[in-house]
Amino acid sequence: MAAAPALALAGVGVDRADVPVVRDVTLDVAPGAVTVVLGANGAGKTTLMDGIAGLARPTTGSIRLDGAPIERLPPFKRARAGLGYVEQARTAFRTLTVEQNLLVARSGSGDLGTVYRLFPELERRRHLHAGHLSGGEQQMAVLGRALVSDPKVVLIDEMSLGLAPKVVHRLMGTVAELAAMGIAVLLIEQFANLALEIGSRAYVLRKGRVVHSGPCAELRGAEDRLHELYFGGRLADAAARLAREAPGREASRGASAEPPEAGSRTP
Ligand SMILES: Nc1ncnc2c1ncn2[C@@H]1O[C@H](COP(=O)(O)OP(=O)(O)OP(=O)(O)O)[C@@H](O)[C@H]1O
Ligand SMILES: [Mg+2]
Repeated sequence: MAAAPALALAGVGVDRADVPVVRDVTLDVAPGAVTVVLGANGAGKTTLMDGIAGLARPTTGSIRLDGAPIERLPPFKRARAGLGYVEQARTAFRTLTVEQNLLVARSGSGDLGTVYRLFPELERRRHLHAGHLSGGEQQMAVLGRALVSDPKVVLIDEMSLGLAPKVVHRLMGTVAELAAMGIAVLLIEQFANLALEIGSRAYVLRKGRVVHSGPCAELRGAEDRLHELYFGGRLADAAARLAREAPGREASRGASAEPPEAGSRTP
């Protein structure tokens, strides 16, 4: 029998400025695995994460962490209950040292050993102000901040934004390692194929609703299928429409209607 989910959402809705953005989302995040959430820009991925972490208030449904309801708890209590959150576009505190960045994020007795083992470069630079780190190292510090309190579940929202491919691969390796350590990871990633490589189960959001869930393997390299799930129409139809509406532009741009290469930005 499959292990009980570390995080379980049932019928979750989340509003932004009183407008329903996420609707009726039911999903499970298994311990020791990476669960991937995909979707086009504006699909509601970050809103969903904010709802889980308590930065936005869920209006419907239940969120259970290790079986206990957390949907009414404030963010710090959800964190204390074992939820780590790497927010989209979050940066480290530039005027604090690396170690101070980690220490201020720590609740209770969590130690820095795991973070320094995962990121030896952070240990070497622990007395440096975070503002002096490279973009990749800063992202490691942000990820480290989510790990210092020994979370059971880690939510990661597009941590690869603006980073070099080599660094992105390195960070993806670390995410896989977190899962191997038994942590339940919920991952949003702009490079869909990279996420699908390390993920077990994938959910696709469109207009705030889950339109697909299944094994990651099913979606690996399946650009047409992903496009269809993201936008609700076939990629070939979109290309034909583009050709009809702007034949000159289509001819001159040619490759614009082609599916992206594996590892490139999502459709
Ligand atoms: N603070 C806010 N107030 C009002 N509307 C918002 C707010 N934040 C997001 N939205 C709207 O909610 C919808 C979903 O946004 P969200 O940021 O959750 O999408 P996303 O899937 O994370 O997109 P991206 O891939 O660009 O990060 C969008 O239409 C967005 O304009
Ligand atoms: Mg987002």
